Amino acid sequence: MSNQRNILILGGSGFIGKQLAFSLANRGWCVTIPSRHPHRNRSLLVHPNIRLCQADVLDPSELQSLCTDQNAIINLVGILHERRKDDFRRIHVEFIKSVVEACSQSGIKRLLHISALGANQATGSSLYLRSKGEGENLLHTFGQRGLLVTSFQPSIVFGREDDFVNRFAGILKFCVGFFPLACPGSKMAPVYVGDLVERIVSSIDDSSSHSKRYTVCGPEIFTLAQILELIIETQKLPCRVLPLGKGLSRLQALILQNLPGKLFTMDNYRSLQTDSLCEDGDLCQTSLRQYIPGLADMFGNKASYDRFRKNFIQPDPEDSA
Ligand SMILES: NC(=O)c1ccc[n+]([C@@H]2O[C@H](COP(=O)([O-])OP(=O)(O)OC[C@H]3O[C@@H](n4cnc5c(N)ncnc54)[C@H](OP(=O)(O)O)[C@@H]3O)[C@@H](O)[C@H]2O)c1
Repeated sequence: MSNQRNILILGGSGFIGKQLAFSLANRGWCVTIPSRHPHRNRSLLVHPNIRLCQADVLDPSELQSLCTDQNAIINLVGILHERRKDDFRRIHVEFIKSVVEACSQSGIKRLLHISALGANQATGSSLYLRSKGEGENLLHTFGQRGLLVTSFQPSIVFGREDDFVNRFAGILKFCVGFFPLACPGSKMAPVYVGDLVERIVSSIDDSSSHSKRYTVCGPEIFTLAQILELIIETQKLPCRVLPLGKGLSRLQALILQNLPGKLFTMDNYRSLQTDSLCEDGDLCQTSLRQYIPGLADMFGNKASYDRFRKNFIQPDPEDSA
């Protein structure tokens, strides 16, 4: 009989999920990733231990059949804004109930979940944060009934294919003059996706992580404006940040949330009213300051990317000890 263990990654086709999938597959796990659009995620199939399938995990019967023969589940399904009314509730709360039910029906005992820093059912400053908090609470409540649950609350996550640094860098490339920035003073401790993935993977078999909620932060605190200034400075862009006050930040959100693509919504604005910082716990090592200088090369040609990789200096763990 094979010793290979099976893991189902819900939301495994997303930015964090893909990195997690490769990390687990490299460690010998047989990884299943359901996606509504598997054709967009074919890059996952380069790994022989990864199985990509077409499924809508929000359909309880499809979810149930995906759970057959799985040893563990990691849930990363999440959204930053609603396309339809009550999407936050459907995806961050109701879906959690289906996942727990599917675990119970299939005899799966291990469940890991990615929440968000600042998620709090009662005091979250936005619907996003309150719904993430409610889902996480539900999970830990069910966890007391025999399911071994661990959840992670990361600050903003950066890395190749992220939708934060890359998005700003992509927009700033075309900016000449001033870039009007909403919520410029909002604080965060960006965490590198590889560091977060490492923590998730190492907790799967760690019994001391059962029933725990881990906050996950990078080594440095930035305001949103400082992150943009860092991008501008390192890319030598002909542009400056124009910090907007509260009223204009709200106005920007009101306008942008009604445009296609919903670049920024009122709910995002409310999320940014809560600083995304860790109060305690050990911080991850990789700094955004090291990562951002490579962006131009990543957007550029392969020769310059190779040059960046060659010159990249890995942080010495001793330095931050
Ligand atoms: N990225 C960050 O900075 C950050 C920070 C804190 C917390 N988090 C949390 O970490 C998790 C993963 O984040 P991410 O940045 O990797 O997200 P992402 O790239 O946007 O990926 C989201 C994943 O969720 C799935 N999904 C979204 N809406 C769905 C729906 N209606 N039905 C079924 N599947 C749906 C997508 O699958 P399809 O292939 O089917 O589209 C995709 O795999 C989220 O829960 C997020 O709240 C992220």
